[in-house]
Parts: sequence; C-alpha cells; structure tokens
Amino acid sequence: MILITGASRGIGKYLFEKFLFSEETVQGAYNLTMPDKDNEKYFTKVNISNYQEVLSWIEKIKENSTNLILINCAGINYNSFAHKADINSWYEIINVNLIGTFNVIRAVLPIMREQEFGRIINLSSVVAQIGVAGTSAYAASKAGLCGLVKSIAVENASKGITINNLNLGYYDIGMIKEIPEKFQTVIKDKIPTKNFGNPINIYNAVEFLIKTDYINGASIDINGGIL
Ligand SMILES: NC(=O)c1ccc[n+]([C@@H]2O[C@H](COP(=O)([O-])OP(=O)(O)OC[C@H]3O[C@@H](n4cnc5c(N)ncnc54)[C@H](OP(=O)(O)O)[C@@H]3O)[C@@H](O)[C@H]2O)c1
Repeated sequence: MILITGASRGIGKYLFEKFLFSEETVQGAYNLTMPDKDNEKYFTKVNISNYQEVLSWIEKIKENSTNLILINCAGINYNSFAHKADINSWYEIINVNLIGTFNVIRAVLPIMREQEFGRIINLSSVVAQIGVAGTSAYAASKAGLCGLVKSIAVENASKGITINNLNLGYYDIGMIKEIPEKFQTVIKDKIPTKNFGNPINIYNAVEFLIKTDYINGASIDINGGIL
C-alpha cells in the first residue's frame, strides 16, 4: 500500500494519480483542499503537524496494509528575509515540513518494522543546498530531513526499511506556480537545462527508490544540473 501526504495538490496529487492506475493500493491525505469527488474514498483529512490526526489516519488504514510505502509530499513555503520574518510563520514551516514529516514517519515505522518491509521517500529541495535569499525557514526545514533520514536509515535497515530524500529542483507543478512570472524567468536562467522539470522525473525516481533496497539514508538530487 502506498500512502501519500499532500495528495490533494501539486506533486502529491500527480503521484497519487499515477499510482492509482498501478497495481498498488493508494491512500492519500489532504489538509485544506478537498480531493476530487471521484477519489474521495481514497482520502483522509490529516493535518500532518497534528500527531493525533496522523495516528488516527494510520490506525484507520493499518488493517489492510502490507508492504507499506510512504511518500511525504505535504509541505509549505514562506518567503521573508530572516531579520523581517514573522516568527509564527517561520515556526509553522518547521512544524509542517520537518516535524509534520517526522510525525508521519513515526506513526508508520512500528508497522513497517513488524512487517519487516518499508519504503519512506521525502520530498526535499535544492533550496536547502544552495542558499536562496528569503528561504531560511524552508531551507532549514528541508536540510533537517537530510540528517533525519540518515539516523532513521541506520535504525531500521536491518528491518527491510529504506528511507531517502529526493532533493527536487524547480518543477513545472505545484508551489512554483505561485511565484510571479518575472521571478520564474530568473530561476529558469539559473538552471543548466533552462527549463522547469517535468514531474515524470519525480515519479521515475520514486519508482526507482521503491524497487531498490540498497539505497538508504540518501538525499538524491533531481534538479536539471544545478550545482
Ligand atoms: N514544486 C516544486 O518545484 C518543488 C521543488 C522542491 C521541493 N518541493 C517539495 O515538494 C512537496 C510538494 O510540493 P508542491 O509544489 O506539490 O506543493 P503544493 O502544490 O503547494 O502542495 C502542497 C501540499 O501539501 C499539503 N499540505 C500543506 N500543509 C499541510 C499540513 N499541515 N498537513 C497536511 N498536508 C499539508 C497541501 O494540502 P492541502 O492543500 O489539502 O492543504 C498540498 O496537498 C513539498 O514538500 C515541497 O516543499 C516542490
């Protein structure tokens, strides 16, 4: 069974729809955006920063779950220079992107350990690697995932569980669309390929990590060659 957080929009929705037509059972989580009517039966409302909500979701799906694969797509962004940042908005980024992601991982790990199989894939970002003005909260939340997967990989490798990050560059989907067009042009100019990535690259990388049991604790760049 594949669990996808942030499956109501953007990359999570894209992956949800791809896996819906695969042999795997898929369950999605949304927070504020209602899923499409046809897919409602596969969805649960879960605010990932609320551990009790996460636990209830995992409790609900647990019974029919084998070969659990968790794809953590839920995430938010907040742009501000650090010296002007609204303190609560800054904390909220860490609460959702880092603590929320951990909440879901924490809730699924005991089941994966018992079943001696698991795949956990988190969506991280090139922004944590290169220094982009205005992104201290977002970059810190994603950089945190780099250390998090290393520790959890070591703890669970002997139980058939892998946990990895995909360091995404800029994709033609999701939150990038909220950036004003003139800034999108500036960003594209910094990408060696000069274009935003097609999300099929993310799907291919997720498939690869699902099939591969010897990549663990890694953060893999898929960013069109940004160094
Ligand atoms: N798009 C890119 O180019 C890009 C690049 C690098 C990294 N990423 C990462 O990839 C992931 C997906 O990005 P995206 O572009 O698809 O973003 P998006 O279109 O803004 O979608 C974000 C998703 O996260 C969910 N979400 C937000 N807060 C949540 C919460 N508290 N609890 C549960 N779900 C929550 C949203 O659900 P609701 O709408 O239902 O609230 C939505 O489904 C994020 O982690 C992002 O940081 C994206």
